[in-house]
Amino acid sequence: MNINKNYQNIADSYLFSTVAKKVSEFSSKNPDKKIIRLGIGDVTLPLCKAVVSALKSACDEMGVKETFRGYGPEQGYEFLKTRLQDYYKSHNVDLELDEIFISDGAKSDLGNILDLFAVDNTVLVPDPVYPVYVDTNTMAGRKIVYIDANEQNDFLPLPDSSVKADIIYLCSPNNPTGAVYNKTQLKKWVDYANENHAVILFDSAYECFITDKELPRSIYEIEGAKTCAIEFCSLSKTAGFTGTRCGYTIVPKTLVFDGVSLNKMWLRRQTTKFNGVPYIIQRGAEAVFTPEGLEEIQENLNYYRENAKLISETLKKHNIWHIGGKHSPYIWLRCPNNMTSWEFFDYLLENVQVVGTPGAGFGKNGEGYFRLTSFGSRENTIEAVERLDKLFG
Ligand code: MLT
Repeated sequence: MNINKNYQNIADSYLFSTVAKKVSEFSSKNPDKKIIRLGIGDVTLPLCKAVVSALKSACDEMGVKETFRGYGPEQGYEFLKTRLQDYYKSHNVDLELDEIFISDGAKSDLGNILDLFAVDNTVLVPDPVYPVYVDTNTMAGRKIVYIDANEQNDFLPLPDSSVKADIIYLCSPNNPTGAVYNKTQLKKWVDYANENHAVILFDSAYECFITDKELPRSIYEIEGAKTCAIEFCSLSKTAGFTGTRCGYTIVPKTLVFDGVSLNKMWLRRQTTKFNGVPYIIQRGAEAVFTPEGLEEIQENLNYYRENAKLISETLKKHNIWHIGGKHSPYIWLRCPNNMTSWEFFDYLLENVQVVGTPGAGFGKNGEGYFRLTSFGSRENTIEAVERLDKLFG
């Protein structure tokens, strides 16, 4: 048996596992110190009432012979897909039901989708970016080229016609920087992909944080996107489903390469390798998109937006350069005193026990930067900014 040697080309441990390990080592040496975690983007508010009630009812149904359900459709129940279709319609995007695939989250599908593409494709990844894009392609042995995201281009790189790429990753609002593409910028990527026979894998996991109606929440708001883009989203950040697990992937039927429909390929892949998201969870997800669910999740999103404001105000007070936090739960800051990302990580952990994510973990252009999340509880966020205020002061 020969192992997949490509695994030797990725870091020993996934970024957030490395951070968690460092924090747990610090914590076992300093058991009396209260650590505030603003590192991994994990939510802290509970599921909203509409969701909890739907989950309970679905549990009850599963305990009764007449309403019990076994295997469901691998690509998701129609009741949830119809809600998603309406959700997209509210952003002026028309989708057919069989273009929507329900999954257990964007991360899994972003990795799984690679089954559809040949190994000799060249992958274009903005740097810095969510590490899953790079790690999954490295595992498969694909060639990766990078496009620089930096302060000069507001961390929103645009296509470079001299670069030849087949698979392009875009994440907007961006993880880790919080930067958001406008429609004109996104159109440039769509045109580039259509002209170059390339596919865009568009990660819209943070779309719910966008408040400016002019900014696109879906790539399908851009003309031409349905012939070049697959979109991935999840309820993790939208409705606090990080532990509940439900997401969706949109594969338009007009996405045809070399005469082959990617929608059909993905359906074939999912029906073979996936047995669908649990019925109970899909009922909970359905409740997110009811009028009361949508209202309740807005309250939670506003709570996180307020946290982001508190963090941003403290950084501003100390003249620390930062972006994000406006249409995103992430605040991306330049480490003070020219510290490297990991030096700043250790500095904060040792001195004020505030945990963030080192920018270098998202790529070489992330070196010297740091990411804080607004997903903490209000009490912890206030305590964290007070500690930072004292430290920087
Ligand atoms: C993050 O912190 O970047 C996210 O929580 C990771 C994820 O969504 O998988």
